[in-house]
Amino acid sequence: MKSAEGKFIVVSNAEPYKHEEGKDDEPVCKEVEGGLTTAMNPQMRDSGGVWIAYGRGEKDFSVTDPDGKVKVPDYPEIPEEDKYTLKRLNFPDSQYRNFYRGYANRILWPIFHSFPTKADLRKEYTYWNEGYLPSNKKYAKAIIHAYQPGDTVWVHDYHLALVPKLVRNELPEAEIGLFWHIPWPPWESFGKLPHREEILKGLAAADLIGLHLENYADNLLECAERVGADLDRGAKRFQLDGEDTQVGAYPLGVDYRFFDGTDTEGKEADIRAKYNCDNLILGVDRQDYTKGIPERIRAFEKFIEDNPGLREEVTLIQRTPPSRTGIEEYQVEKSKINDQVSEFNGKFGTHDWTPIQLFWKGVPQRELIAEYRAADIGLVTPGLDGMNLVAKEFVAANEEPKVLILSEFAGSSRQLEEALLVNPYDPDQVAEAIKEGLRMPREEKERRWRRLRKKVRTEDLPSWAESFLKDLENARQLHSMTRFSFPESEPERGLS
Ligand code: UDP
Ligand code: G6P
Repeated sequence: MKSAEGKFIVVSNAEPYKHEEGKDDEPVCKEVEGGLTTAMNPQMRDSGGVWIAYGRGEKDFSVTDPDGKVKVPDYPEIPEEDKYTLKRLNFPDSQYRNFYRGYANRILWPIFHSFPTKADLRKEYTYWNEGYLPSNKKYAKAIIHAYQPGDTVWVHDYHLALVPKLVRNELPEAEIGLFWHIPWPPWESFGKLPHREEILKGLAAADLIGLHLENYADNLLECAERVGADLDRGAKRFQLDGEDTQVGAYPLGVDYRFFDGTDTEGKEADIRAKYNCDNLILGVDRQDYTKGIPERIRAFEKFIEDNPGLREEVTLIQRTPPSRTGIEEYQVEKSKINDQVSEFNGKFGTHDWTPIQLFWKGVPQRELIAEYRAADIGLVTPGLDGMNLVAKEFVAANEEPKVLILSEFAGSSRQLEEALLVNPYDPDQVAEAIKEGLRMPREEKERRWRRLRKKVRTEDLPSWAESFLKDLENARQLHSMTRFSFPESEPERGLS
């Protein structure tokens, strides 16, 4: 995928693999769950290069060389030539806390998901000065160190908004793209950030900023204009602080061939036998308040309460890997979900049937594929989600027609229109959709499924990467030929 003259430098806060303590104190390599790592991992395995990320595993630095590097996937069955370099960064504890738990996940995550009341804005300056800014500088330094002329720098997500500017200051000719994996909210939410202008100045130095949807791109352009950028709305470009950038929508896809083609050796039959139940409904989400898990469980309860004749015939499996466990909102939600599920199972469960099977544990994607195949209905109902790959993976994994119930607030609902689209905050509507899904005539199921599969197959991960990278190359060429044609403005002092 990458041309001969340079390598990829992929940069994100989350690493694709961590090393944890295994049996006999030996470090074991594990996948890290999340849409970003899922997206970039196959890319890196194809193209090689270096991925720079924070080392989050307890044994991470026991396997790296003195420069923090390790070859991944670090599995015995993977030949050396199929591995790529992961460079792990370490940070002082308090800096990382202010950066990751603080600015990234207690400020940006809630603001960008339009949950401003969950944002800890009183600490915005502390999190910024003692976390976000120094950490972004550290990432930028690592990129500058790894960079050779001809390389492509691909920065990911809201943790690293300042990195394009910090790198551009040192490497004016570098090709720098940034993909924003979460929604971009309207000005009314974004504008609440005290450092709103600095964030946009940081981003403006990328040659191309990608988002999942057109309306996120439009929101970003409007926010840029509000902080004083010059805008070319038609061309989707803006100029700020002496930098100009291109903005575009690139809906992230999944590795269809992997999800469709992986042999699960009949494990789906074992899963079905284990629950001894005619109909399985599956929810898969990192534990996050944006995923609408309590509301989903409430809707399932409503369905069971309203349909006594279907009790013992339907089970909900909710697979929920823990996430951001150091943050209070996440802890509170976890115990709320535990209470909710215990109460409901206690009330309706029988000797032979537990209505909700809740797992606080992630599984590798190969195992997830078997769960996708075991399920009759995929229940994907986030309150707001930039894209949501689980919905697409559920479609890709199942050749056999299934039913997908999908929140209209998941970015993927813009493409997957043949799913049963629901308002996740309306338990009656979601309960009704479950009933409709269970009763859907075979013909209708097949018709919807064929269309969904076609979209997920054609708008897949390689085509996403290809179109982003093609536009990135064009944007860089344009930038190196001309400083753009916006009105002249004096560059202000940027981040340094
Ligand atoms: N995932 C996984 N194991 C699990 C649960 C989830 O590998 O037990 C992966 C899943 O396959 C998907 C990603 O985590 O690729 C979640 O991405 P999504 O876009 O749905 O949500 P995000 O976590 O990025 O908000
Ligand atoms: C979302 C974000 C990613 C993040 C992932 C997992 O997909 O867009 O940037 O890596 O969630 O969250 P975590 O905090 O564990 O990295």
